[in-house]
Amino acid sequence: MLNKISDNIWIIDGDAVPFFGMPYTTRMTLVRLQNSMLWVHSPLKISDNLIEEISALGEVKYLVAPNKLHHLFLSDWLQKFPNAICCAPPGLEKKRPDINFSKVLGMQSENEWEEEINQTIFKGSPAMEEVVFFHKSSKTLILTDLIENFKPESFNWWQRILAKLTGVLSPNGKTPADWRLSFIFGKREAKKSLSILVEWKPENIVVSHGECIFGNGLEFLKRSFSWV
Ligand SMILES: [Fe+2]
Repeated sequence: MLNKISDNIWIIDGDAVPFFGMPYTTRMTLVRLQNSMLWVHSPLKISDNLIEEISALGEVKYLVAPNKLHHLFLSDWLQKFPNAICCAPPGLEKKRPDINFSKVLGMQSENEWEEEINQTIFKGSPAMEEVVFFHKSSKTLILTDLIENFKPESFNWWQRILAKLTGVLSPNGKTPADWRLSFIFGKREAKKSLSILVEWKPENIVVSHGECIFGNGLEFLKRSFSWV
């Protein structure tokens, strides 16, 4: 299940989940920190296979929910790994009071992973803020929903038209149209957030939905966010 994309970073593809009638393929990202602790971004539905493969790599220590929509399986992971530190994006701790979050993620990278992973919050939308990460050694930007980049073949004809209209069809994937609209009064903040991502000069971009970008990530990022 694990797909190693560079030293100490893997992606794992999960099942497609229905979202507004569209089959959303899902993906989680795993980073092994220097102390062999595992940092799990947007944990997928848990399974024995997945746990077995992951446990061979290190100890599951950080469970990271990057935005208010990616929280569905956190409770199961916490049950399996009760000592893990569960991290919420802004707003999720109110939406899911049943989950025992250890920390709310902020604009600066957390002490626990700052040497290896950069972090910021993409600002500008009152609807949702996403916490964005950058794995320094592999120059990989880790996005969740800020770029959706579905393969055309993952949809039927009408879904493909809808995906194109909403701007989430590869190779021209971007922030979905409805979320983009919510940045209408926050463009200045979005620009500031984008400039941080650009400064990181990503080579690769991992996204939670659709095709990842390997090579020329910075170019893709700038094109994808031209709406900002
Ligand atoms: Fe998503």
